[in-house]
Amino acid sequence: MHFDILKHDMHSHLLPGLDDGVQDLETALAFIRQLSALGYEHLTTTPHIMCGVYNNGADTILPKLQEVREAVRKAGIPIELDAGAEYLLDDYFESLLEERAPLLTIGGKHVLVEFSWVGLPAGYRSTFFNMKVAGYEPVLAHPERYHYLHKDFNVYREIHASGVLLQANLLSFTGYYGSRVQAAALQLAEEGLIHFAGTDLHHQRHLQALSQFDFRKLLGKMLAVNNLRNALL
Ligand SMILES: [Fe+2]
Repeated sequence: MHFDILKHDMHSHLLPGLDDGVQDLETALAFIRQLSALGYEHLTTTPHIMCGVYNNGADTILPKLQEVREAVRKAGIPIELDAGAEYLLDDYFESLLEERAPLLTIGGKHVLVEFSWVGLPAGYRSTFFNMKVAGYEPVLAHPERYHYLHKDFNVYREIHASGVLLQANLLSFTGYYGSRVQAAALQLAEEGLIHFAGTDLHHQRHLQALSQFDFRKLLGKMLAVNNLRNALL
């Protein structure tokens, strides 16, 4: 029950066949059952929306959510299931904002966005600003995993100071993604810059690592220094 303290996981890929996460309903149910056993009471799962790669939107995500919800209910797993999305911050996302298309949110106003793995998106400041103007709370997914930011920690501090919420992956703290990512996660936590901790669960290896590592000490420390908001969503 490591995660009863967090209550709500707000980053995962559990809707079958929509992205590089879970591919079938049976696996989705097995993962959700295990997340419940680990202490989570609420999951907001976040399929990728990446134009040309994962062409998702409400039209693909919401029907799949209904299907998995129904299966969770039938299986009697005591957990609440919702869906938002993880938007890649790119021209397509910009166009959604410009068109004022309703975005998929976590808890009504939080919108999870990720940066490219290659480099800092040029227009990120104005995108975050435009999201706020549209009434959304931007949440940056796994800031510790962008290697190009490790050499310039001030970018993290600046993004945090601009009112963007930062979501760290729990597995980053274990060294799962390597020592540089681990060091960045620990420094973000030390500086109190993290607002959410997420599983970013895609597959069995993630679940195994999440189940094996004892997060209690880490989470206790993080809650003392960081304003973790998972349970408030
Ligand atoms: Fe993700």
